[in-house]
Amino acid sequence: MKITVAGSEAAFDTIAAGRIAGQICARPRSVIGLSTGRTTGNIHREVCRMHAEADFDISCVTFFGLDEVTGVDREYAGACYAMLRNEICGPLGIPADRFLMLPTRSDDFAAACREFTAELDRRGGIDLLILGLGENGHLGFNQPGTPFGSHAWHTVMDPTLEARIRRETATPAGVPLGGVTLGVADIMHARRIVLVAKGANKRQAVRRMLCGPVCEDLPASILQLHPDCEFLLDTAAAADIDINSLRNNE
Ligand code: GLP
Repeated sequence: MKITVAGSEAAFDTIAAGRIAGQICARPRSVIGLSTGRTTGNIHREVCRMHAEADFDISCVTFFGLDEVTGVDREYAGACYAMLRNEICGPLGIPADRFLMLPTRSDDFAAACREFTAELDRRGGIDLLILGLGENGHLGFNQPGTPFGSHAWHTVMDPTLEARIRRETATPAGVPLGGVTLGVADIMHARRIVLVAKGANKRQAVRRMLCGPVCEDLPASILQLHPDCEFLLDTAAAADIDINSLRNNE
């Protein structure tokens, strides 16, 4: 297994941002998937800093979001669209036709999901996917129990996140909230994956992801089977694993 442990928060962000910048430099037409949340914000800002410094060509890259909140306006600060626009696509000046997101509102989410993955396919498929990790081992909005064969779909939100979004947006109880996400099978089709996890709250999920059985109870465990997945961890997230024995299993 390819496991990288960063010794500091700055190193973690620099390594992850370097994977994104390196991918763009190696293949300017790359299709790159991004995740939102506390783990990835500074990574995105670091990509912008690297670009300001090195001025590599970003005129052909496509960025897309792994998942999106539904039932809210996409301008809401907690929507993945707003986060990715503010953190990376806006500062880099990526135009709308190369910044693809699943919709926050739709009359037909199933059709929107099919169209989204078809568009990724038309662009040649996913070259690099940066994945965050949920404390319960989720990937995107694929919660424990999601079938490994799932494709992009509209799902329910985890209760903690839903409570927070309702509070922040004052969404009444009767109005449904949810999430759209690439499915586990779509994720596994990415040519290359970098899973990023930092903080002590992720250590249990990291241990189960890397050392436990591959099972739908922990969606991220399937990454053990991906042919090109790097696990980038900080020391707190890596605290419960024996890295040397895992590396030796290569
Ligand atoms: C949410 C997002 C995921 C993200 C995960 C981890 O569930 N929908 O895309 O990977 O959170 O977030 P954080 O980095 O804040 O722990």
